[in-house]
Amino acid sequence: MSRLIVVSNRVSPPGPEGASSQGGLAMAISAALREYSGIWFGWSGQSTPQYTGQISVQRAGGVTVATMDLEEQDIQEYYNGYANRTLWPLFHYRIDLTQYERSYGSGYARVNARFAEMLMPLIAPDDLIWVQDYHLIPLGRELRERGAKNAIGFFLHIPWPARELMATLPRHRQLVEAMFHYDVIGFHTEEWKNAFISYVLYEAGGMQVSDGSLRAFGRTTLPQAFPIGIDAQGFVALKQSDAGVESYSRVQESKLGRKMLLGVDRLDYSKGIEERFLAFERLLSEHPEMKQEIFLLQISTPTRSEVDAYQDMVTRLDAHSGRINGAFAEMDWIPIRNVHRVHSREELAGIYRAADVALVTPLRDGMNLVAKEFVAAQDEEDPGVLVLSRFAGAAQQMKEALIVNPFSVEDVADAIRKALAMPVEERRNRWRALMDGVEREDILAWRDSFVASLEAARERTAKPPKPARIAAPRREG
Ligand code: G6P
Repeated sequence: MSRLIVVSNRVSPPGPEGASSQGGLAMAISAALREYSGIWFGWSGQSTPQYTGQISVQRAGGVTVATMDLEEQDIQEYYNGYANRTLWPLFHYRIDLTQYERSYGSGYARVNARFAEMLMPLIAPDDLIWVQDYHLIPLGRELRERGAKNAIGFFLHIPWPARELMATLPRHRQLVEAMFHYDVIGFHTEEWKNAFISYVLYEAGGMQVSDGSLRAFGRTTLPQAFPIGIDAQGFVALKQSDAGVESYSRVQESKLGRKMLLGVDRLDYSKGIEERFLAFERLLSEHPEMKQEIFLLQISTPTRSEVDAYQDMVTRLDAHSGRINGAFAEMDWIPIRNVHRVHSREELAGIYRAADVALVTPLRDGMNLVAKEFVAAQDEEDPGVLVLSRFAGAAQQMKEALIVNPFSVEDVADAIRKALAMPVEERRNRWRALMDGVEREDILAWRDSFVASLEAARERTAKPPKPARIAAPRREG
């Protein structure tokens, strides 16, 4: 069996206590690498004063992990710059926050070239290479330029923007041209895939052939949708773990018989947390009788705190929660519990289980796994209700959720009321249908379908060209 090489900006190897310290995606990648005895390559997360050009290789939990340090300028221009000040906001439809600096573009190109330089010596001719996410779009081309003939796939974990937005990016053609060095390009949903196809057809003058592959820039690639999922059974086990049961009881006791609305997000402007607070405020002001009956627990994990748009958003968010709490709180009740800290996955599973309503209301999101984790953590007899933004990739699969427009505070406030009033029979029916989907389209299905597509791409390219037909010589006489 051939090896698999996974490349991502961040690597998250299994810790000394095994896989439980990893997130769901990291666990799936580790499992894939164990099965294919591969390598996980990426940035160490460390900076050095100057680029050293060295990699460090370790074995952890049956997985080989190779990492390289980046110098401070790389981190500023590539990670905080092009990845998180340019591509992230643009791909999440926030051109108002997108910064287009040439130095970011050159830092991005430099780091991708460095990744390729360091990775090349580790690649054997038969390896499958799987590149993850927007930090590394040009990596395939960099590897090809250095002679890699392997099957190389790319998976985008965030949305692909509408082509009118893509066109605002200086040198957008060059970025898309780089995608054509991959044999397979994975998106979470048909919508993101179609946005990519639309760019290729109408902006780049490409064409689509009958097997779904795209031709442009003199090359061919196959765009496909692979919706990512979670380890559903693993998540059920987390909620039943000691820490999961303990956090469930703690939250349950603290509810004092009230209904709990829950938000769990990275502190990112794409998650719609501010808009969610405003919707909750609207609900409280229009339905004062609900005060004392409900509260919102918002758990937000700090992220990318060196980027100004994130700092600004945190300041605004805290101002909203302070204002709402000041205006509505009573001596024995606070409307918003605004918590900025990291919880273990076990604790989170217990918290999800204790929630009556989950508010997953991003303004734009590639998939959103919180929606799936919330469903997996519910108790079958008395499940909570999922309120889900139509702009999360997850909404294309999770149709039995209450689907909302997160830009409309009225729409979200109405959905909260509907969720709180939903009869238990309807909650169970919706939950069963959602849980079936979460179990069926899980993280292993995602991994296996992508790897199978990459293997098929390798078969196609490895197939020797059909021999020309030579007519048998005629017998004389
Ligand atoms: C999103 C991206 C990932 C990224 C994660 C955390 O899910 O798609 O590539 O790793 O956010 O962001 P960070 O900047 O902390 O790696």
